[in-house]
Amino acid sequence: MTSNVSYHCIEREPKNIRIMDTTLRDGEQNPLCTMYPSEKLKIAKILEEMRVDVIETGFAASHGDDEVMREIAHRTKGPYLCGLARAVKEDIDKTFEAYRDYDRKMVHIFVPTSKVQVDAKMKKSEDELIEMAASAVRYARKYFPVVEFTAEDSVRSEFGLLEKIYGVVLNEGARVINVADTVGCASPKEFGELVYKVNKFVKGIKKDVQVSVHCHNDLGMATANTLSAIENGAEQVECTICGIGERSGNCAIEQIVAWSLYKEEFGTNIDSSKLYEAAKLVERATKFRNNMAPIVGESAFSHKSGIHQHGVINNRNAYEVIDPALFGRKSEIIIGPHSGYHGLVQKAEELGYKIDKEQAAYVIDCISGLVRNEIKKNFSDRDIIGFIKRIVRRALSPL
Ligand code: KIV
Ligand code: ZN
Repeated sequence: MTSNVSYHCIEREPKNIRIMDTTLRDGEQNPLCTMYPSEKLKIAKILEEMRVDVIETGFAASHGDDEVMREIAHRTKGPYLCGLARAVKEDIDKTFEAYRDYDRKMVHIFVPTSKVQVDAKMKKSEDELIEMAASAVRYARKYFPVVEFTAEDSVRSEFGLLEKIYGVVLNEGARVINVADTVGCASPKEFGELVYKVNKFVKGIKKDVQVSVHCHNDLGMATANTLSAIENGAEQVECTICGIGERSGNCAIEQIVAWSLYKEEFGTNIDSSKLYEAAKLVERATKFRNNMAPIVGESAFSHKSGIHQHGVINNRNAYEVIDPALFGRKSEIIIGPHSGYHGLVQKAEELGYKIDKEQAAYVIDCISGLVRNEIKKNFSDRDIIGFIKRIVRRALSPL
């Protein structure tokens, strides 16, 4: 992978990156993304089928999350289930109760570490924050095989404090330390460097400890930052379906999986063929809809302009970098005023009609006339069939 942080790259073989999905926790924290319990159960099921490694199913401090967390635990078999908890016994206990009979349980404890957040929320000294984190992890380790610790707002925190707090929680038995760009303000270079420094300088990082990352998208960098972190040694990444999450969202799981399939520089356990179905479920459960979203957006593998249609008809790679079938999707020719003869002939054929060049040109003329005159601008397959039938009725010869 070439990027401006490559000089920091840790040399290593391509490896599998663990995916923690937090659609049901951080995703739901978006103001547009409240989900009913029944919707969460369906999403948890598809995440399991997709082979997500860890599902973060809720936040102990959020009213009612524990009930759905318990229900998910009853219905799930494969992945780790993780609950977010403040560094207090009450949250850790509540998470444990929700997952009591589930073996692969995990708790994710967080403490803010940036001055701006500590001043705004906790008013505690550095030593007090470290002690809070240490005692919460020590307590949680009695009940959970895996404890993750996040230094919230790591990006805006003093590195000295990060080094100390991560070292202390690792010493208390945390297995995953999470570096968070909580407000989505890092550049890929800065974030890569931070992950590199955590890997290099934090005491207690060893084989069975994972460095994880959690990136928000406030400045549109969540996926780029997550990829930069992988280059620099992160082994777990936290993502959501469609990138839903606080404010402008989180890193989108489908983008990370697509990148891994495209570049083949790291792997994941994800069954990518389920990603579109998962995105549709999330879309139905929330008000989220981004038609242009990479991989799962409606237009991601669609071609409307004549030159592009001609190109992809001859060779898909001309305008598609990755096979849509990998994601349970297919390439589509969409007819509009910019379409050309090749696209229309191909579309007609897909719909069961054979038309010639002149007939195609005539249909396109009609379509662009409707657009120019502000009568209609989107044309479905039914519309195209209607045009073909109406305009070239006599010349039609069904295949
Ligand atoms: O954005 C964030 O820092 C979080 C943590 C609690 C992981 O969501
Ligand atoms: Zn977050």
